[in-house]
Amino acid sequence: MRIVCIGGGPAGLYFGILMKKADPDNEVVVLERNRADDTFGFGVVFSDATLDNLAAVDAETYQAITESFAHWDDIDIHFKGQVLTSTGHGFSGMSRKELLRILQRRAQSLGVDVRFETNVDDITAWLDADLVIAADGVNSGIRERYAEHFEPELDWRPNRFVWLGTTFPFGAFTFYFNKNEHGLFRVHAYRYAENSSTFIVECTEDSWKKAGLDQASEDETVAYCEELFKEQLAGHRLLENRSVWRSFPTVKNAHWHHGNVVLLGDAVHTAHFSIGSGTKLAMEDAISLRDALASHDSVEAALDAYEAERRPVVESIQRAAQVSLEWFENTERYMDLEPTQFAFSLLTRSMRVTHENLEVRDPAFVERVNEWVAKKAKEQTGLRLHIDNGRAPPPMFTPFRLRNLLLENRVVVSPMCQYSADDGTINDWHLVHLGSRALGGSGLVMGEMTDVSREARITPGCAGMYKPEHVTAWRRVVDFVHTESSAKIGMQLAHAGRKGSTKLMWEGIDEPLLRDNWPLIAPSPIPYFEHSQTPKPMDRADMDQVRDDFVRATGMAEEAGFDLLELHFAHGYLLSTFISPLTNTRQDEYGGSLENRMRYPLEVFDAVRKTWPREKPMSVRVSATDWAPGGLSLEDCVEAARMLEQHGCDILDVSAGQTVPYAKPRYGRLFQTPFSELVRLEAGIPTMTVGNIQSYADANSIIAAGRADLCVLARAHLYDPYWTRHAANEQGYEIDWPDQYKTVQRYTPRFK
Ligand SMILES: Cc1cc2nc3c(=O)[nH]c(=O)nc-3n(C[C@H](O)[C@H](O)[C@H](O)COP(=O)(O)OP(=O)(O)OC[C@H]3O[C@@H](n4cnc5c(N)ncnc54)[C@H](O)[C@@H]3O)c2cc1C
Ligand SMILES: Cc1cc2nc3c(=O)[nH]c(=O)nc-3n(C[C@H](O)[C@H](O)[C@H](O)COP(=O)(O)O)c2cc1C
Repeated sequence: MRIVCIGGGPAGLYFGILMKKADPDNEVVVLERNRADDTFGFGVVFSDATLDNLAAVDAETYQAITESFAHWDDIDIHFKGQVLTSTGHGFSGMSRKELLRILQRRAQSLGVDVRFETNVDDITAWLDADLVIAADGVNSGIRERYAEHFEPELDWRPNRFVWLGTTFPFGAFTFYFNKNEHGLFRVHAYRYAENSSTFIVECTEDSWKKAGLDQASEDETVAYCEELFKEQLAGHRLLENRSVWRSFPTVKNAHWHHGNVVLLGDAVHTAHFSIGSGTKLAMEDAISLRDALASHDSVEAALDAYEAERRPVVESIQRAAQVSLEWFENTERYMDLEPTQFAFSLLTRSMRVTHENLEVRDPAFVERVNEWVAKKAKEQTGLRLHIDNGRAPPPMFTPFRLRNLLLENRVVVSPMCQYSADDGTINDWHLVHLGSRALGGSGLVMGEMTDVSREARITPGCAGMYKPEHVTAWRRVVDFVHTESSAKIGMQLAHAGRKGSTKLMWEGIDEPLLRDNWPLIAPSPIPYFEHSQTPKPMDRADMDQVRDDFVRATGMAEEAGFDLLELHFAHGYLLSTFISPLTNTRQDEYGGSLENRMRYPLEVFDAVRKTWPREKPMSVRVSATDWAPGGLSLEDCVEAARMLEQHGCDILDVSAGQTVPYAKPRYGRLFQTPFSELVRLEAGIPTMTVGNIQSYADANSIIAAGRADLCVLARAHLYDPYWTRHAANEQGYEIDWPDQYKTVQRYTPRFK
């Protein structure tokens, strides 16, 4: 086979090595525009896991690489005069120059024809090879040449960074956060050889410009950074090597190959330097492509297989890289956290490392985090905690207070419509459904979306709070929860707005009823689907009526004994449609600016707050984004959160979307938690987070990192009403069983 690799970086060289090794008859040419020992940047990082992969593929390269390593286990986070160390991270650093030298030597020894100082301007001269590897790096000319086929997407990130070196021999992967009059400068530093370390300085574009670094020469950049990090560098100098300020592009491609040309390494994908995976990904691409060629008869089938195998792996790493780079773009937001929480937030930023992973790597560090969370919970609730007589509880099992409501732990059963009520009256199904979840150990159980009038329902099966029978029926559930469990119970009050008069969920979600419809109201006459009923735009009389319905239902909720009241401002129901600019096109004082769009929902909130007892808390569920062009922005959501907080809202339940049918949500693990964190830190209001919280590791991480105050789980609780009890059991933490079930305390469940 005749193979041409354009680019002699890790991807091109390693692929050349592997193909020559696979079959010495393969003719492999690597064309590299630079000289053999030109390289830019300083060190590269490999995790221990990556090295194991490399060992299995080419022992010689692995051997040579590992001989040149600086290995470390610790991460040191320098923050506000403290150094927080977390151990057990297992990384190795080496010089990029040395890595390339090893790969070049190995390639040449196997007979790869490596031609330096050969710039490929025009690929057509090489297209007669069987396979053309575009390993020409992040600015790949070949990718651009065939852009209409590869459909590349480059997301240039806003922060600026510069790659510097230093002789300071860091003993750990080190982070600094130094602030001066121009802003906050973050440093990512690690040792890669005896007296050589990489020193990456990163800041926002604003700080970069304020500091005049947009005009600075390399020498001036070095001088500025040496002055800023004088104390930490302890007399060591910073070194430059084409150290220009850059912004980072996240590179993605819709297609990875075209004809016999295939993209490898940075040309096809990048992963931010804060997760240090670029070189690993490039080398793993080479392994995957070699394997695909070995197991397929045609090049085309092999290229398809390569893309099919690598794409999900790369996308997963890019998702982790995205949250990691965003953490560094928004570090200013975390600067008011206390050092322990700041460090935990930094270490768990990509969601790959959780509270539980960290516990395996570094139990002492996690114990310190748990103690800190418990101390804060103790201050917040005034309770004595287990910390007083031994180990601190896992973060999810710390209590939380809202006004006079004391929650035993941070797990909440999310409101979930059961579509099983009769003219709003709930029945035995609801008693068993909510009762069993209350016995399941969560701190708070939320009743389903409960509608303030018959016309406010989504479907004929929805629960209501508009007839005296409703109080009686709900009171039965509330009393059961209060008498038989230690959970508290909340009611979610709502009006369905333009999403009303639709079928039961399992008969067609949001689909209009075929008969017995009731009239709909909304801020503007925009139907949900084209074939949905067009709602009547609300006039003042409608607004007064709905507000009064909410107030009446609030009085009934109090009568039924609920502990917390949540108003539904999310998911495209009535009050949410006032807030979203996509569903509110009013020209009066209730449409237009955010202030105007919030006016009516706040009128309802104020009227309800006046009726709901002062000592009981209120929450509001919001859709933080519409996930649609022209929809609610995150800045607007933060602003709306501030308004709600000023009006006496105690906690925001941060959900997202479902406001318009053409939304394009980005699902995934904890997909809405970043919104909760944003609101909590920027608007300064406690939050609940909801959406694909899958494990107790997630729940502990969220609470310890301050991404939310409460974790709300919906489907997890449908699957397992005892989710919290199971989480406790897994963590060796005990929560009380009801008297009737006390024998379980001496029972060990086994599923395998
Ligand atoms: C300064 C710096 C430091 C880094 N540090 C780390 C790190 O610590 N850990 C990590 O995992 N990753 C790191 N990375 C990222 C890592 O270097 C890349 O992800 C990795 O090198 C990708 O390998 P590659 O072979 O795809 O691309 P590259 O290493 O960029 O190689 C592409 C090669 O193609 C050559 N080329 C481009 N166009 C042509 C042409 N037209 N004709 C001929 N040759 C051409 C270039 O000269 C270059 O040598 C760093 C990157 C930089 C720039
Ligand atoms: C069956 C079902 C019914 C739901 N009903 C409601 C509801 O009444 N009110 C509400 O705000 N959200 C409702 N939701 C949304 C959930 O509360 C939650 O926000 C969503 O399912 C994401 O959480 P999860 O990933 O833990 O399931 C419902 C979800 C499900 C699965």
